[in-house]
Amino acid sequence: MKRIIYLILTAGILLTSCNSGTKPANKSNEKESSMSITKKPFGKVDGKEVYLFTLKNKNGMIVKITNYGGIVTSILTPDRNGRFDDVVLGYDNLDGYLKDTPYFGALVGRYANRIANGKFTIDGKEYSLAINNGPNSLHGGIKGFDKVVWDAEQFETGNGAGVKLHYLSKDGEEGYPGNLDIYVTYTLTNDNELKIDYSATGDKPTPVNLTHHSYFNLAGTTGRDILGQKLFIDADKYTVVDKNLIPTGELRDVTGTPMDFRKPETVGNRIDEVEGGYDHNYVLNNNGKLTKIAELYDTVTGRVLDVFTTEPGIQFYSGNFLDGSITGKKGIVYRKHFGLCLEAQHFPDSPNHPEFPNTILRPGEKYTQTTIYKFGTK
Ligand code: BGC
Repeated sequence: MKRIIYLILTAGILLTSCNSGTKPANKSNEKESSMSITKKPFGKVDGKEVYLFTLKNKNGMIVKITNYGGIVTSILTPDRNGRFDDVVLGYDNLDGYLKDTPYFGALVGRYANRIANGKFTIDGKEYSLAINNGPNSLHGGIKGFDKVVWDAEQFETGNGAGVKLHYLSKDGEEGYPGNLDIYVTYTLTNDNELKIDYSATGDKPTPVNLTHHSYFNLAGTTGRDILGQKLFIDADKYTVVDKNLIPTGELRDVTGTPMDFRKPETVGNRIDEVEGGYDHNYVLNNNGKLTKIAELYDTVTGRVLDVFTTEPGIQFYSGNFLDGSITGKKGIVYRKHFGLCLEAQHFPDSPNHPEFPNTILRPGEKYTQTTIYKFGTK
């Protein structure tokens, strides 16, 4: 009898310890599996299927990406009280993006920002690009990378979930020389980062300058513009531009000017002193290393956005051309300064400025850049 009681007790102890041994493992599996990716049809463009990928990390942060234009349609991130809201501008459906968009959330290329008169010369040969912005070519021309359907493959890593996009830009597209094979990987990590890795190779010398064009508003969908948000940019200089926003070649010191964001400054404090508002390329102090170069902070919600990049420049655009003519997600009217862009890039019009960091990619070389948008609160 004693023996039976002993056996029952031992079996009981063993069972309990087995259970307690598996419980934490189950818990951590649950945590891991709370990271997820879903893929849903989003429409059709140029006869090709377009999808909407929803990435969710273990903290509940959500990023939605479509393979049309590589557009990030939503970023849902918490405020300091844990309330989630969407911090980028955009549309509820594909139609909005097809009808009219000032590059909301898009991947921009082959050359981000402007090339003067759409002309440049490589090895003595002059090229003419599609003109779409006054006399200039802007953001890759009439049908840039923001308006094409990318191949897309979803993936999961130990620390995140993502979508790998691929596009082959044909020789002569929008006037650019050579076929260009481009890969862009968006990863949402469990550290609340949206990481963007770009690479490209071509078969003729060509200018390449890729960027991401989200309009951020850390106030979310509360109806507040970005003028009260605080910005830091680690740049001592910016590229001076003419009336068509083409660099003159001068790199001007920001000291003592409304362009100085080396200490966090409220965006709206000095914006009236800048003709037309901020739409300038800053010359970053990062020496090409993936370091934090900017921070946006909304004191009301506590949301913070840190930007890291390997690029030598960042275009700070304060949404000056938003004019209330676009009604976006949730029926919100996007008035002037309702979002701001922090576009990591090489300097505008570099192909016509040999003194700027090189943007010509030659056969056998590989273009790479990495930019991280990291969300948090304080
Ligand atoms: C440019 C602006 C332009 C905006 C949207 C920005 O990158 O610097 O001048 O209006 O994109 O088109």
